[in-house]
Amino acid sequence: MSTPADDLATVVEGLHLDDARRHIFLCVGGGKCAPVEASEAAWDFLKRRLRELKLVDVEGGVLRTKAGCLRVCREGPVGLVYPEGVWYRDCTPANLERIIQEHLIGGRPVEALTIAVGPLAD
Ligand code: FES
Repeated sequence: MSTPADDLATVVEGLHLDDARRHIFLCVGGGKCAPVEASEAAWDFLKRRLRELKLVDVEGGVLRTKAGCLRVCREGPVGLVYPEGVWYRDCTPANLERIIQEHLIGGRPVEALTIAVGPLAD
C-alpha cells in the first residue's frame, strides 16, 4: 500500500525537481504587463516548445511555472530564469524561442531582453 510520502516522492521523481538545469517563471497576470491573450499565447508556446525539445520531466530538464504576477507589471509578458536570476521583458513566442535556445539550453542569458539580473545569495 502506498503512503502519502511515497506519492510525494513519486511526484518529485517524475518532475525531476532535484536535478533540473533551470526554472523559468512566466507571468500570465491578467493583462497588467501584457494583454491576456498575449500572455496565454506565450505560456502555451513555452510549454509546447519545452516539450518538443524534450526538456520536460527529464534529468537536466527545465522546470516551468505560470506566475500570476511578478510585480514588474510593464513591458511583459515578464519572465524570470533561475538559478541565474535573469529577469526578461517582452516574452513573446519569438523572444521565448531565443531565451529557450540561448539561455535555457545554451546557458547564455539574452542580454537584449534582460531587465535585471539578481541571482539569489548562496
Ligand atoms: S502582471 Fe505581469 S508582472 Fe505583474
